[in-house]
Amino acid sequence: MSVSLLEIKDLTVGFPAEQGILKAVDRVSLKMEEGKTFCLVGESGSGKSVTSLSIMRLIDYDGGDILSGEIFFHGEDLVQKSQEEMIKLRGYKLAMIFQEPMSALNPVFTVGDQIAEAVMLHQKKGKKEAWQDAIEMLRLVGIPAPEVRARQYPHELSGGMCQRVVIAMALVCKPEVLIADEPTTALDVTVQAQILDLLRQLKAELNMAILLITHDMGVAAEVADQIAVMYAGVIVEEGTVEQVFSHPCHPYTLGLLKSIPGYESERGKDLYAIPGNIPSLAQLPQGCRFHPRCVPAREKCRLEEPVPHDLGSGHVVKCWLSEGAERAEKRSPDLPADMNQGEVNGGKEVRTL
Ligand SMILES: Nc1ncnc2c1ncn2[C@@H]1O[C@H](COP(=O)(O)OP(=O)(O)O)[C@@H](O)[C@H]1O
Ligand code: SF4
Ligand SMILES: [Mg+2]
Repeated sequence: MSVSLLEIKDLTVGFPAEQGILKAVDRVSLKMEEGKTFCLVGESGSGKSVTSLSIMRLIDYDGGDILSGEIFFHGEDLVQKSQEEMIKLRGYKLAMIFQEPMSALNPVFTVGDQIAEAVMLHQKKGKKEAWQDAIEMLRLVGIPAPEVRARQYPHELSGGMCQRVVIAMALVCKPEVLIADEPTTALDVTVQAQILDLLRQLKAELNMAILLITHDMGVAAEVADQIAVMYAGVIVEEGTVEQVFSHPCHPYTLGLLKSIPGYESERGKDLYAIPGNIPSLAQLPQGCRFHPRCVPAREKCRLEEPVPHDLGSGHVVKCWLSEGAERAEKRSPDLPADMNQGEVNGGKEVRTL
């Protein structure tokens, strides 16, 4: 069995509030492998960014506390590291790109200087060599005439170009893990596709592990090897892209899939939207956190939190219906898709607890 490059075990992250400590991430576990893309998906507010900021230990600066759990990188627990130790890892072995490229770039320095700075800091190279690395990296991320572009300031470049620069900045020290938090959300659709292609290509070239965070199941379908679906601070379904897309089992996953344009075979239908909203952390429902929005919810769902259930080969679902799904999957691999029609769309119950 391959050893994970980065492994999160039972991570719980809280923010102090008037009501007490609010848990934005609750007992989250995930494993990232070299050369693979792990997608964390879920609606806004589900805890994706808090998870990623915790890996980088930037959550400490955001008012959050890692209450329990471990984050192993090369067998060392990042949770136990001091900020001085983390500074040596951030932007070097662990890199991150954010949603808004402009906020990640400093307007008063040329883009070449900003990329070269990371090389000088982490790899202790001289200015000339670092500048050459910066130009090479700009070329690798597909920026034409990189020698010219390197001397320009962020405001002289388009949004798509700036996101490429941010990616170049993150990758210039050849990190082992790249966290990309909604890296394409601020970009138009064509540029979005180019950036996703670029990440795919660079992952192969640099053999990185990528944690891609997105609210968009369509994006996850394109780039993920492994997917975890997050809702209100917990992972509700996890598996390979094939398992989650071909045999989605959690009603929330089904709802997200149905919201992808083109997922439903019937053309001309309005896009599906999951009813209701993600709950506030101060008022998390008892039992299954998804139950107020879940059509097939039963009495047990309102009272008891579901436990993770492995349907086989690492396809794990946190839903009281999943034991039925396991039986159903053995009978017919297509059943979860059919259930999708009945449960989430039509509201029919096709399984019993
Ligand atoms: N700095 C913060 N202080 C208090 N609450 C926060 C902070 N950052 C995030 N949260 C809360 O944590 C929850 C998860 O947020 P986040 O991880 O940003 O969601 P996502 O990235 O999935 O959209 C939200 O309820 C959000 O309000
Ligand atoms: S446990 Fe119950 S409420 Fe939660 S997702 Fe499953 S069916 Fe719905
Ligand atoms: Mg976020």
